[in-house]
Amino acid sequence: MKKTATLTIDGNTYELPVLEGTEGDKAIDIRKLRAESGYITYDPGFANTGVCKSSITFMDGEKGILRYRGIPVEELAENSTFVETSFLLINGRLPTRKELNRFSVMLNDHSMVHEDMRHFFESFPRGAHPMGILSSMVNALRAFYPELPEEEEEINVTFARLLSKVRTMAAMSYKISRGHAVVYPRYDLTYCANFLNMMFDSPVRPYVIDPDVVRALEVFWILHADHEQNSSTAAVRLVGSVRGNIYAAVSAGICALWGRLHGGANQAVIEMLQQIHDSGGDPMPFIERAKDKSDPFRLMGFGHRVYKTYDPRAKIMKRMCDTILSKLNRKDPLLDIAKKLEEVALKDPYFIDHNLYPNVDFYSGIVLRAIGIPVNMFTVMFAIGRLPGWISQFREGQHDPEQRLFRPRQLYVGDQVRHYVPIDERG
Ligand code: SDX
Repeated sequence: MKKTATLTIDGNTYELPVLEGTEGDKAIDIRKLRAESGYITYDPGFANTGVCKSSITFMDGEKGILRYRGIPVEELAENSTFVETSFLLINGRLPTRKELNRFSVMLNDHSMVHEDMRHFFESFPRGAHPMGILSSMVNALRAFYPELPEEEEEINVTFARLLSKVRTMAAMSYKISRGHAVVYPRYDLTYCANFLNMMFDSPVRPYVIDPDVVRALEVFWILHADHEQNSSTAAVRLVGSVRGNIYAAVSAGICALWGRLHGGANQAVIEMLQQIHDSGGDPMPFIERAKDKSDPFRLMGFGHRVYKTYDPRAKIMKRMCDTILSKLNRKDPLLDIAKKLEEVALKDPYFIDHNLYPNVDFYSGIVLRAIGIPVNMFTVMFAIGRLPGWISQFREGQHDPEQRLFRPRQLYVGDQVRHYVPIDERG
């Protein structure tokens, strides 16, 4: 017997189907609501609205659970690599050793960027934000790869090309922005080590690849790899729903991620921690501002639309701060400030009542600082990590028979009909 929800409006009763997910999450199917009742639902920001069925990532915001294709993110952070996790997200299962080797070779084969693209990088003002450069360059890839493949094999090449070239382009934009020689990808290096080498190697000071730093970057990117229907993924799915190409969709995702309420928060957190540090290290004035409704200031890196408990990724990221800093025998005063801020906030009734906990962005910047990534590239690092998630979500949407063009409705509250008045009669 199919479960239904009963809705009674204006004396009419409507039976709406109830859907249930694998983990017991439930939804009321309102696809026929407007046709049958004339009513739409109202849900700014889609906070209570499911736009798709997905088998990629499961989150439980109350219990702080995050799984990619059913595997807990903690297990992947402990045992996997970013390339293996990317394969898992895109293909729905862990690769065999042969498949992983083949995928790694494909990523290496597509790691170079067309030499003509260098002129694009060189044409940006030196101070241009790397996220603006990255979104433009990803969209420009379409001009160099105009074919839109239909065959599975060719589609996989397109995905590998994106995964590999986005990493190369990020490093290129960094080098060019500093007026330094571009470092090309090396066939003998793994995905993460290659990125670090392209970022930091130079003829006068060869970059020494530290396995602890590589592992920190692997875990950072694994933790960012997907997060179900977040804002940037919704942007990617929207472009996919109008049959836009994957390059345009990822470019839209990068632009959405850039916002400081979303991926841009990791840069904003470090800027906030630096402000606290420069003002003497006392977090209380910032906590009070965050609670003051008349002040637009928000505690960056705190709060989440889904998690109403500690973000499981933040727990791992916090541990990784201590690990990487001790391995590099370094201290970061901003980490001490972050821990103090968290301690005070989590005891404060406002944060407790609002279920505000550290999210993935709160500690991630400390790890990136330890690796040597410049602050204005923090969100680019998030974008590279999220890319396999965007690709898998785009692909799932393309194959979803129930996916429809994204076109939300509205409640009109403007003027009722009125007519044109010639300018001399307007008073
Ligand atoms: C990411 O969706 C994802 O999965 C995103 C992400 C991913 O992996 O893709 O997890 C990555 O984007 C993490 C979030 C990074 N952003 C920040 O850290 C920015 C600071 N946080 C917020 O602005 C806020 O918490 C959001 C944007 C993350 C979530 O906001 P919501 O769900 O729209 O909630 P809201 O703004 O309506 O806030 C609810 C209440 C409000 O108070 P009331 O008016 O109800 O009294 O909580 C308060 C807010 O004022 N609040 C905060 C706060 N976050 C929420 N108050 C102070 N500081 C904060 N950070």
